[in-house]
Amino acid sequence: MSSWKGLLHTYKDYLPVNEKTPTLSLNEGNTPLIHLETLSEEWGVEAYVKVEGANPTGSFKDRGMVMAVAKAKEEGSKAIICASTGNTSAAAAAYGARAGLRCIVVIPEGKIALGKLAQAVMYGAEVFEIQGNFDNALDIVRSISEKEAVTLVNSVNPYRIEGQKTAAFEICDVLGKAPDVLSIPVGNAGNITAYWKGFKEYDEQKGTGLPKMRGFEAEGAAAIVKNEVIKEPETIATAIRIGNPASWSQAVNAAEESNGEIDMVTDEEILEAYQLLAQKEGIFAEPASCASIAGLTKKIKSGDVKKGSQVVCVLTGNGLKDPSTAIDTVTVKPTVLPNKEEAFLEHIRGGVAH
Ligand code: F0G
Repeated sequence: MSSWKGLLHTYKDYLPVNEKTPTLSLNEGNTPLIHLETLSEEWGVEAYVKVEGANPTGSFKDRGMVMAVAKAKEEGSKAIICASTGNTSAAAAAYGARAGLRCIVVIPEGKIALGKLAQAVMYGAEVFEIQGNFDNALDIVRSISEKEAVTLVNSVNPYRIEGQKTAAFEICDVLGKAPDVLSIPVGNAGNITAYWKGFKEYDEQKGTGLPKMRGFEAEGAAAIVKNEVIKEPETIATAIRIGNPASWSQAVNAAEESNGEIDMVTDEEILEAYQLLAQKEGIFAEPASCASIAGLTKKIKSGDVKKGSQVVCVLTGNGLKDPSTAIDTVTVKPTVLPNKEEAFLEHIRGGVAH
């Protein structure tokens, strides 16, 4: 039996891994690519989701973090630091703990999902809340990392992009080629940069072809689409509540080179997609992830994504990360009944619940 040994082992020929690189792993990667049976039929396309919530800390960040933390350790660093809307901090804290490094995280006060905060504290990170947003937090940690002996592990660290590009490899390995379209949420714009790099490298090595890259920001944080820094970004999708993406130009480049586009979706469209995916396909992804589904439906309606296209939507994080949004969004609440079988029968036979 061959068992999965994580990304640094599996893709060592494509990554900056040498004999001095620690064999760090929490068995990240190898996430499911699931065909959306019902929605593909409804939309007239062949749609898949790349379920990154199946990674060890429940988001795609593990791919980049395993690489960045392994290199920090290799270079003799004793501490890592990041700003985060939640998922980066969870991944940094976990891989930092695994590698025996001090981990410092800076997050926007009151604006990160509960599960992510639970992860950072549980993995033993030093957590600081800032009375500001992600962009302010990133400015601070970038500056500190230049002055102190601490390694920055946000996606401006090129090793993060290297690790994250492996998701594109996995998609090509499963489909046998790149899809026609890749639909992906955009926040700080590191992930779209990483996927595009991954697709290009695999195409050069294996002739797998290139997808059109379609990235989606949340409307209240759509700096790239509006071509201006958003000082006070706002969206229900807190993971992508970012007003000045660090990899802005790389995201624009990915969209242009691939004949794709960066567009935006509203919070209403995100929440609609969030419920649609869970209730029609049995897949629970966090709100920011569902920008990829909301974006695809928008582009199918506008005709920009043609019928019959093969599309992969990236579901960047697990739905359980953000239980509060789920509970607040769904209008059907559990029905309280007395402890008597007849009461249940009456309700079930009457089809009361749904
Ligand atoms: N989806 C989720 C669930 C995220 O956590 C993020 C980013 C994105 C999408 C956007 O990816 O920034 O590469 O464009 N989260 C970062 C964090 C910012 O701190 O966890 P991106």
